[in-house]
Amino acid sequence: MANANLNQAKSAKKDEFYTQLADIENELKHYKEHFKGKTVLCNCDDPRVSNFFHYFSYNFEQLGLKKLITTCYKSQERDLFSQNNSERAIWLEYTGDRNGNRVPDPEEIGINYLKGDGDFRSEECIELLKQADIVVTNPPFSLFREYMEQLIKYEKKFVIVGHQNAIKYKEIFPLIKDNKLWLGYGFKGGAGHFISKYDDTATAGDHREGMIRVSGVTWFTNLEIKKRHEDLILYKTYSSAEYRKYENFDAINVDKTSDIPMDYYGYIGVPITFMDKYNPEQFEIVGLGIANLGLQCGIKPYKPEHKKFRKEVQKRGAVDGDLYFVTDGVVEVPYSRILIRRKQQTPYVQSEEQLRQAAEPQGEYNGKQ
Ligand SMILES: C[S@@+](CC[C@H](N)C(=O)[O-])C[C@H]1O[C@@H](n2cnc3c(N)ncnc32)[C@H](O)[C@@H]1O
Repeated sequence: MANANLNQAKSAKKDEFYTQLADIENELKHYKEHFKGKTVLCNCDDPRVSNFFHYFSYNFEQLGLKKLITTCYKSQERDLFSQNNSERAIWLEYTGDRNGNRVPDPEEIGINYLKGDGDFRSEECIELLKQADIVVTNPPFSLFREYMEQLIKYEKKFVIVGHQNAIKYKEIFPLIKDNKLWLGYGFKGGAGHFISKYDDTATAGDHREGMIRVSGVTWFTNLEIKKRHEDLILYKTYSSAEYRKYENFDAINVDKTSDIPMDYYGYIGVPITFMDKYNPEQFEIVGLGIANLGLQCGIKPYKPEHKKFRKEVQKRGAVDGDLYFVTDGVVEVPYSRILIRRKQQTPYVQSEEQLRQAAEPQGEYNGKQ
């Protein structure tokens, strides 16, 4: 029990970091048209330190918002460093500038006290959630599953920060597969620097004072964005020598998203970073090549003879259901894979102009077919 409490305290500490305004601006500039006339909720945000509150209150008029609601969590952990240091949990409501100075002044912001600690799962916070059209925040990573589950349950639109590993969660992956959730534009280089007082493990070159570097962070959303409809440009062609097939599933393996062959229409195992390039008009997500999750998420049936290699697979730290190769009797297990398939697209028809341009250097095109 003592251990459980300690672990809880540790993960609560890990949740205590704050998003930079520049990162919020970089992502949200792609969603501007969605906010017009909408109520935005930031429900893991102490308004005194949250740059989400800052972003929406200062851009309230420009975005054409209807209302901004922010709730502030009052942590019950006594030893926990938290900038959420008010005596009680509060929620704020801002309906825009009234005195014409285009700045959210304290007298324009309604401060209300919560009965409980401001937990996003509490009844009173759920009542506020119901009022919201779009939820935007960086929620506690340790509660990501529950947080997302709640957003889906109440059919909310959202743009939230999370870790890319969440793609593999059994609660999250089916949402991604069914196109109910996708990745936003993301952080530069796939890593974010967050404001934190806790130890930073970043290498010297990456260290920023007062910040913690978190690699693999990204944005999760269900709002339409252009990126999601951009085709991934493919340049490689398939050859059985270059692309190995798994032993227990009829799919080829691709280690780098950019190496997906343009002329292969069977199943393909790709790293989870593929999700950053996913366009549902170009690809279909078939399932997850990880343990029983794969089976739960539609990967059926595995080839029956996979039992033969079970011991070898386990020795390599994998479990039943992980995708693996066998080369000359040696078992190899790649890192987590998502299984995808190219959508059949109508053959690419080149225009007269394209044909002329393609042929020009050789001087072969004479204007006739
Ligand atoms: C990763 S931090 C991000 C804070 C802020 N949203 C930002 O981006 O700057 C997550 C925040 O959620 C708060 N929090 C933790 N558990 C919570 C809960 N059950 N309900 C609401 N907020 C919670 C933490 O105190 C912490 O401030």
